[in-house]
Amino acid sequence: MKKKRILITGGCGYIGSCLYTILRKKYNVFVLDKNKKKDWQKIPKKKLFICNILNFKKTEIIITKINPNTIIHLASLSTVNEKFKMKDYYQNNVVATNNILKIMQKNKIRNIIYSSTASVYDYQKTKINETSKLNPISKYGKTKLISENKIKNNDLNYIIFRFFNVTSAIIKPLTGEYHDPETHLIPSLVNNLNNNKISKIFGNDYNTRDGTCIRDYIHIKDICDAIYKGIKLIEKNNIKSILNLGNGKGNSNLDIFKSIMKISKKNMLFKFLPKRKGDQPKLICNIQKSKRVLNWRPRYSSLNNIIRNEIVWSNFLIKKKYNRKFS
Ligand SMILES: NC(=O)c1ccc[n+]([C@@H]2O[C@H](COP(=O)([O-])OP(=O)(O)OC[C@H]3O[C@@H](n4cnc5c(N)ncnc54)[C@H](O)[C@@H]3O)[C@@H](O)[C@H]2O)c1
Repeated sequence: MKKKRILITGGCGYIGSCLYTILRKKYNVFVLDKNKKKDWQKIPKKKLFICNILNFKKTEIIITKINPNTIIHLASLSTVNEKFKMKDYYQNNVVATNNILKIMQKNKIRNIIYSSTASVYDYQKTKINETSKLNPISKYGKTKLISENKIKNNDLNYIIFRFFNVTSAIIKPLTGEYHDPETHLIPSLVNNLNNNKISKIFGNDYNTRDGTCIRDYIHIKDICDAIYKGIKLIEKNNIKSILNLGNGKGNSNLDIFKSIMKISKKNMLFKFLPKRKGDQPKLICNIQKSKRVLNWRPRYSSLNNIIRNEIVWSNFLIKKKYNRKFS
């Protein structure tokens, strides 16, 4: 039987490149990205299209040629960084999504899987579910929510995934996170460990069990697994669904420090700094709906596994002299 055709936009980014390695065994997978692939990404030339989605004409020609059954739309300006203007986020998140939707409508492509974010939610003390109050604060979160609404206003099958903190690496073949600059906590701490740098913990007087912030970290492999189940579902059914993707459990900043020290058997230096404005004490997601709809559960997201795999990935980048920048 002929394999189904899947297009991953943003497939040279962190999540897209990891997803490619998982899906290529099951589907005929194509990648579209405005940037070139990195040296370790094993995407064959004939499967990779370098194109900025803001170039509507070129994107349409490529997508028509691929004629995918499902588009997994990951391309986005994903860093939360005040140096970027609202216009940058609007272009790469909203206008680019709109272009994809228009091309889908014109060419009768029916299925889209979209990567949204926990940043669309308002703060709440209890676990966040899909009907929790929305109130994005950052430009990033605001533009992701506008894109969600554009997708919902089209007559397409969709799954909108709201990812929490995606982290760690796939070991076989080795592929992982490489943002420029890297702002995420776990790679930054592992980098500090490797370079004997002092780490900063912002706030030790939050109303949490050890006084430091708590977040929901999900292993990239669990994200890829959920997207794979999402593709199977959307290919067979008429579905319009919003699903949280997280671990469903919280880890504090101190939990992560302790875990890195335990696994590496090295001591880490850190200092407490005052709380940062806007940081919430605790963000954990409720994953009951995802478990039910996808028949999925996180299997790789123990802190132990996350840290072990991130250390392997970080050592690989150091050995190969890929200079990772940290903010
Ligand atoms: N990494 C996380 O923890 C996380 C959490 C929540 C949501 N997300 C979402 O998941 C998706 C993937 O995240 P990631 O961490 O892999 O990001 P990433 O920055 O590593 O990858 C994004 C990719 O999109 C490409 N891209 C951006 N604008 C484009 C355009 N106009 N045309 C073509 N390509 C374009 C970039 O070149 C990049 O390769 C994003 O939509 C992000 O908002 C990620």
